[in-house]
Amino acid sequence: MPFDDFRSFLSYLESQGELKRVTREVDRYLETTLVAKKSIDFQGPALWFENVKGYRVPLTVAVYGTQKRVCMGLDTTPENFVRDYMAGSKRIGQYDPVLVKDGPCKENIITGDAVDLNMFPITWHAKKDRGWYIDATCCVVQHPVTRVHNASVHRLYIHKKNQTGLWMSPFNLWHIIMMYWERGEPCPMAVAIGADPATMMAASTSMPLDEDEFAFAGAQRRKPVELVRCETIDVEVPANAEIIIEGLIPPHERLPEAPFVEFTGYYGDERLAPVFNVTAITHRNNPIYNDIVTGPPPDENQPMLITNQVEVYRALERVFPQECILDVYLTPGGCTYFDCVVRIKKVYPGHGKQVISTVLSYQGVKNVWVVDEDIDARNHIQVEWAFATRCRGRDDVVFIQDTLGIPLDPTTTDSVVTKMGFDCTRPIGLDKVTSPMINQPCYFPTHTINLGDYIEGFVDTYTKPLIELPEESKITGEGITHLPTGMKSTAQRPS
Ligand SMILES: Cc1cc2nc3c(=O)[nH]c(=O)nc-3n(C[C@H](O)[C@H](O)[C@H](O)COP(=O)(O)O)c2cc1C
Repeated sequence: MPFDDFRSFLSYLESQGELKRVTREVDRYLETTLVAKKSIDFQGPALWFENVKGYRVPLTVAVYGTQKRVCMGLDTTPENFVRDYMAGSKRIGQYDPVLVKDGPCKENIITGDAVDLNMFPITWHAKKDRGWYIDATCCVVQHPVTRVHNASVHRLYIHKKNQTGLWMSPFNLWHIIMMYWERGEPCPMAVAIGADPATMMAASTSMPLDEDEFAFAGAQRRKPVELVRCETIDVEVPANAEIIIEGLIPPHERLPEAPFVEFTGYYGDERLAPVFNVTAITHRNNPIYNDIVTGPPPDENQPMLITNQVEVYRALERVFPQECILDVYLTPGGCTYFDCVVRIKKVYPGHGKQVISTVLSYQGVKNVWVVDEDIDARNHIQVEWAFATRCRGRDDVVFIQDTLGIPLDPTTTDSVVTKMGFDCTRPIGLDKVTSPMINQPCYFPTHTINLGDYIEGFVDTYTKPLIELPEESKITGEGITHLPTGMKSTAQRPS
């Protein structure tokens, strides 16, 4: 179902047991983040802190703390995400944003001296952070010539009641700011907090500069995003957002920013970053302030990076027929960024290593494991089994030395990194010289029986096998040998 706004998404999560309210008093200095991190560690619920010390505005956190919840916001599942997100992209143009006269985000308008960001329970996330950060942002700018909307997620460091720092990598927001600065003009920017989930996910997806991110969000949720004009700047923002912060990024002004705990789980270094001078705050009645937990996995930033799987899939799709690429999975322990498992239908010699070289051309991925179709890429025991029994050290490990990574990776020097690929596929032809055993994996057809029929009171959760096992495997309780079509086995089943 498409969610019109953040609060209807929260209600839905609550109805599904995916959000819990916390009534006891909590401190926004470290405590709310610590509680939310622990909930995320257990893949637990999103939290709604009703009673933040010194505040009447409630604080939500960990709303996007699991891939399941991220996907619920887009009416999909982690397993179907890549396919559905790509299908959504094909609807771009059918649900373009519409400009409306008024919207809930205008229920309260604060300008001039009254502007004070401290009205919201902005948090201090990790001990060595520089200070208070707003991080669940949807930063909206418009291209100075085409007026195309660009939305992205960037943290804001609170310098003072009406000024923040703004840290960004050289993505679209940076390019647009530079366009204004080259004209000697400040860049107008509006920050939506508590936007609907499709808009929030569009903001965390990097798209070409000429593509409108609200059109993308509309296409994903099959419903146009309604926009209203800001009060003090010429920018259009989601009308249903909880809070809008309007302001200007003045040319060439920079102040120190960070340390801040990054999605890699390490503190980033202090650096100079542009400033954002706030000119107005508008908000809904009874606004909800949203926050995000970043840090070592699992955190809340990482589930939102699920969109990177689409990027890797797109890179593969250009080289391989769709039916060969069965799954692309960025592991949570690899920050949903660095480590990737690709499940393929291997059809020719060398296929596994060709997939490795394609995936490693994508800047974000540092390590890739390529597995056969009988391995569930999302099941770490199965992946480790394939790694342990099908990958031969020197021969099946591919290194790319001194290539481009990302500066936030602590293993880099000047963003230069060494990448690795592990071919965990079984041989075809002579691409691997191994023991013949490698072609005789054993699969127990456990899906054919119900343990509840044998053990009283046992609730059996049926799991479908990844590949259709041959007819003989349906024999209850017996291990069988299943080989891909065309392969010969010398193994005999006992009579
Ligand atoms: C929770 C979260 C926080 C993020 N914080 C930042 C940040 O502070 N700076 C940054 O450069 N990118 C950050 N990102 C990544 C960008 O939002 C992302 O790359 C986005 O696609 C950039 O969009 P753009 O190319 O339209 O500018 C964050 C992403 C998420 C999901």
